[in-house]
Amino acid sequence: MQPLIREILALPPESQHITVRGWVRTKRELKNLVFVEVNDGSSFTGIQCTFDRGAGLPEETAKVLPAVSTGAAVEVRGKLVPSPASGQQVELAAADLVLVGEAPAETYPLQKKRHSLEFLREIAHLRPRTNTFGAVARLRSRLAFAVHEFFRSRGFQYVHTPIITASDAEGAGAMFQVTTLDLEALAKNGGTGKQPPAGQAGDRGQALIDYSQDFFGKRSCLTVSGQLEAETYALALSRVYTFGPTFRAEHSNTTRHLAEFWMIEPEMAFAHLEDNMALAEDFLKYLFTVTLEDCAEDLRFFDTHIEKGISAVLRSVAESRFVHMTYTDAVAELEKNAAAFEFKPYWGCDLQSEHEKFLTEKTVQGPVIVTDYPKEIKAFYMKMNNDGKTVRAMDVLVPRLGEIIGGSEREENLGRLEERMAALGMRPEDYTWYLDLRRYGTVPHAGFGLGFERLIQYITGMANIRDVIPYPRAVGQAEF
Ligand code: 4AD
Ligand code: MG
Repeated sequence: MQPLIREILALPPESQHITVRGWVRTKRELKNLVFVEVNDGSSFTGIQCTFDRGAGLPEETAKVLPAVSTGAAVEVRGKLVPSPASGQQVELAAADLVLVGEAPAETYPLQKKRHSLEFLREIAHLRPRTNTFGAVARLRSRLAFAVHEFFRSRGFQYVHTPIITASDAEGAGAMFQVTTLDLEALAKNGGTGKQPPAGQAGDRGQALIDYSQDFFGKRSCLTVSGQLEAETYALALSRVYTFGPTFRAEHSNTTRHLAEFWMIEPEMAFAHLEDNMALAEDFLKYLFTVTLEDCAEDLRFFDTHIEKGISAVLRSVAESRFVHMTYTDAVAELEKNAAAFEFKPYWGCDLQSEHEKFLTEKTVQGPVIVTDYPKEIKAFYMKMNNDGKTVRAMDVLVPRLGEIIGGSEREENLGRLEERMAALGMRPEDYTWYLDLRRYGTVPHAGFGLGFERLIQYITGMANIRDVIPYPRAVGQAEF
């Protein structure tokens, strides 16, 4: 394989012959000199190829050079020499250039100027060719790998949990249904295709539709979380994690929500909330440290163009201790500053994004782990505290974004779990396998979920979550 530009840039320039392959970012002309910057996406920086018309160029090269423009795929041969220009160590003293394929048509939408992120979202198939999206893609790739490195070094096994499931892990009711039933035929036969009324959530329209005729023989959906299945493996392998796509049909059209996102969910047996908090903190710090050490060039771009000072923030967070705060204390703090909020805080309320922002940016000025939330605003599986009112939940909140991690210690007591499910109107027969974990060899266990895109958003400072995943899926958006 030919060397990538990333590898070429690291070579000592000794006038050795090199071939560069990539896409033209810019072309500049200065009297007899033509500068073509070529980038192949292997690193943020491309390589400058300098053509000297005065020194005589091969006929073919002289002919195609005027047609070379932004976006053209090229192969350039030349010698690697020290660069007289500032900001780069080496450049290619180019001898000849071959246009691979045709020069891009004039309609090529990416030009040298800066394009708005909104515009780039419309051409998401071309945006990886820009500085911003190239950097996001490299960072995502490196951090996905870092996730596996972190867990591997701590004895966690990687488990592939199913994507199609019948259980609603979070109970939020925001699931995408998977079916092979012919919806159009059903509609013709008098079905409406509409969701059944909320009160019928227990048997979800089974009166209207015969799910025994559906592919799985029952109503099935895309998973909102791999947690419940991960728990079954944690209670056999002790430490496991999942890392896969999850789907939520939430209608929240925000800069922090996607309908399809990737989640990392560790689950530990013989573990309590304190172990969970420590793991979450270590995990985030590890990911920040990898970014600082291995993604310095891309991070510098975000630091100068997207979120000034983000490197320093990551460094200081990686070196500091996360603040812990109970939900009750957090609400007391918010109530003291009630005037600052549109949504007035009170004990029992779900923390709004303005509240999370206040706690992280004003109260703590850094990440904070909020614990022990009221049971009413958390999922059924969380372990009940002795007060009977709060559960052993934890949310890791960070400045700018709010919640980046959500997790808990799990209710390992069969009776208490059944009680909680009954109170929420859940049918135990749908969760027999989950309840079996509490029947046979139950142990305290805990875990959490980190939204991968929220992590990338935090690290890059990108304002909109739709810009940290290649092809965002959200309400009304499934292009590409
Ligand atoms: O807090 P959540 O809903 O927790 C769970 O799903 C648990 N089963 C996790 C566990 O304990 N194993 O989601 C976890 C994280 C959130 O903190 C957030 O980072 C991310 O997933 N997240 C989303 N990211 C993007 N778009 C959405 N719609 C998201 N919903 C949650
Ligand atoms: Mg949550």
